[in-house]
Amino acid sequence: MRALRTLLAAGTMAAALLAAPALTPATAEENVPTPPPQNWSFNGIFGSYDLAAAQRGLQVYAEVCSNCHSLNLLHYRDLAGIGLTPAQVKAFASQFTVPQGLDDQGNPKDGPATPADKFRSPFPNEKAARAANNGALPPDLSLIVNAREGHADYIDAILNGYADPPAGFKMQDGMNYNKYFPGHQIAMPQPLHDGQVTYTDGTPTNISQMAHDVVTFLEWAANPEMVERKQMGIRVVLFLVFMTGLTYAVKRKIWSNVH
Ligand code: HEC
Repeated sequence: MRALRTLLAAGTMAAALLAAPALTPATAEENVPTPPPQNWSFNGIFGSYDLAAAQRGLQVYAEVCSNCHSLNLLHYRDLAGIGLTPAQVKAFASQFTVPQGLDDQGNPKDGPATPADKFRSPFPNEKAARAANNGALPPDLSLIVNAREGHADYIDAILNGYADPPAGFKMQDGMNYNKYFPGHQIAMPQPLHDGQVTYTDGTPTNISQMAHDVVTFLEWAANPEMVERKQMGIRVVLFLVFMTGLTYAVKRKIWSNVH
């Protein structure tokens, strides 16, 4: 009797499992593949930033992404964190024109940015940004790597993930097909194309290299203190190991006369 009931229960469960896919049709979102894991310099507890890659990524951001995306949490002086000298920071900042308070007549005035200025935003406000982008808002990239599930691998996959839509896939006007974007329709046109920037260090400028570099830069922008944090963690662990040894030695000494 008992065995029969167990058998019946198992049968019902198997039937339910088989029926489940039919009851919940797969949505477009479920078809998004997992972003392929990349070999990042900042992975693992001993990871740190590949500064050359981050500097190339800054160039990609400045020449390509900054036409649409702001980086509001960054000041030009922060670029010291990826190895720019004060003179390089000053030269980099001075290419950009930013608002600089009021002139003697009380009118707003613009001038070349200094290291103390925030990164220049491409649009004065959200409405202007949407108007220029078919109604979609290009998100601020300061914390984007932390904000998206899949983090650096996901951003890298999006930049590499443009393709022609599969046959029969219905695209909305002004949208672009992307293998890794939820729903596969993204308002951002493919931003990177082979040879789009010219690196001074001779690194090839194919899409995957530029994507890798700009993601390294954005990972640093979102987590500038990561290297210090990891080093502190290692120091704390070493200290705890040392203290454990010391405590054990003291305990043995104190109790050494008790038999
Ligand atoms: C022509 C304007 C334009 C350029 C250039 C551009 N983007 Fe975008 N980007 C957009 C818009 C618009 C969206 C919003 C897309 C949406 O929500 O469908 C977006 C969204 C994104 C997202 C968020 C995706 C998500 O999961 O929501 C990331 C990350 C991103 N862009 C990175 C970049 C990087 C890195 C570059 C430079 C290599 C770049 N973009 C260049 C317009 C642009």
